[in-house]
Amino acid sequence: MKRKEIKVKGFARRDGLLWGEDVDLRTITGKIGTPCFIYSRPVLLANVHRFQEAFTGMNALICFAVKANRSLAILQTLAQQGLGFDLVSGGELEAVLRAGGCPQRLIYSGVGKTRDELYRALSRGIFQFNVESKEELEGIRQCAKELGCCAPVALRVNPDVEAATHPYIGTGSAQHKFGIDLAEIPSLLETFRGWKEIRFQGLACHIGSQICSLRPFHRAFSRMAQLVRDLRTAGVRVKTIDLGGGLGVRYHREKPLCLKKYAELIRKYFAPFDAMILMEPGRRLMEDAGILVTRLLYRKETRGKQFYIVDAGMNDLIRPTLYQAWHPILPINLSAKRKVRKTDVVGPLCETGDFLAKNRLLPEMEPGEELAILQAAAYGYAQSSNYNARCRAAEIMITGKTWVEIRRRETLDDLFRTEVLLP
Ligand SMILES: Cc1ncc(COP(=O)(O)O)c(C=O)c1O
Repeated sequence: MKRKEIKVKGFARRDGLLWGEDVDLRTITGKIGTPCFIYSRPVLLANVHRFQEAFTGMNALICFAVKANRSLAILQTLAQQGLGFDLVSGGELEAVLRAGGCPQRLIYSGVGKTRDELYRALSRGIFQFNVESKEELEGIRQCAKELGCCAPVALRVNPDVEAATHPYIGTGSAQHKFGIDLAEIPSLLETFRGWKEIRFQGLACHIGSQICSLRPFHRAFSRMAQLVRDLRTAGVRVKTIDLGGGLGVRYHREKPLCLKKYAELIRKYFAPFDAMILMEPGRRLMEDAGILVTRLLYRKETRGKQFYIVDAGMNDLIRPTLYQAWHPILPINLSAKRKVRKTDVVGPLCETGDFLAKNRLLPEMEPGEELAILQAAAYGYAQSSNYNARCRAAEIMITGKTWVEIRRRETLDDLFRTEVLLP
């Protein structure tokens, strides 16, 4: 059977072998071992530039959603391109600052910011807190009072829109924990109108992730635009409008949104308001900039079903089991013709849910050979864990012929660093 191989710029074949930019991937895995995440800096930069280009001429700030990939060298690369960042924890704030991010380009989202986190973010002078509840607002006020400053806030609106995505990554319906009911915004604004520790600067929304249709964005944006109009009529100036992230990418058969059309939609709804547009893309900026390389440990056959047991598992890439996600998988070496067969690619963890692919047509391979799992830069390493006492993978960044190990593989000592035995 002739199979069409998915091609990712930055990771292409030469004489049947998968290369990353100008590096034979086996050079990297020979030194670093597997599993490892390998990123292409040129692809990452191209993704950023394409996004920036779609919004040229607009008063807009692109704030990378750090949750998608918080590796310092990635954040450093993005900061150097002038991007801002969207944070959801004090840890992410620290990561961005260590990577050289500018505090005045930071937005802090998330439903459960602690006092300590609020304190740190406020004292570093971040650009905006996206507030998710009245109680959080009171907490921010308290911190600002103690620090003798004024906190810049936007209210995160829940526009009650279904995002047409996996149920675990929809965030904009009334059933979700995120945002404040649209109808409550005017009265909440009234509540803190006289608070000198809070400076209202705008509205925010984020309806979900991996969205490949403009329709939910239409709905959410039209509700946001109406709210901006209503507030203006009531004499409230909305200086920033944060439209979140959520743009989907192609893992399998999805058709990602055209960035120009997305930008046109934003212009259509928000150009009349003379406000600064903020965006929080994560996945779409990472997209095809990284792969996960794993090694075949064993082959196994049970009642006619073939398993490839590889050295990466759900602790390295949880998306297949958590979201039933489909990632392209390719052998690194395809120099010789081989028979293909339906195969489950599974990890070594003691969990039935530990799989990377099911019923995938793959060529016959020998133990020791390597496979590449594509589209792994977003929510790959970022969601990895030490489950089953496994050390987390290494990360490598390639630029042309040069590669750098941007994060070393964890060691057993790393695993036990924070623990003590009972006396
Ligand atoms: C508040 C917020 N902003 C931005 C994002 C990034 O989403 P995506 O990676 O789909 O662009 C998320 C992810 O769920 C989020 O929760």
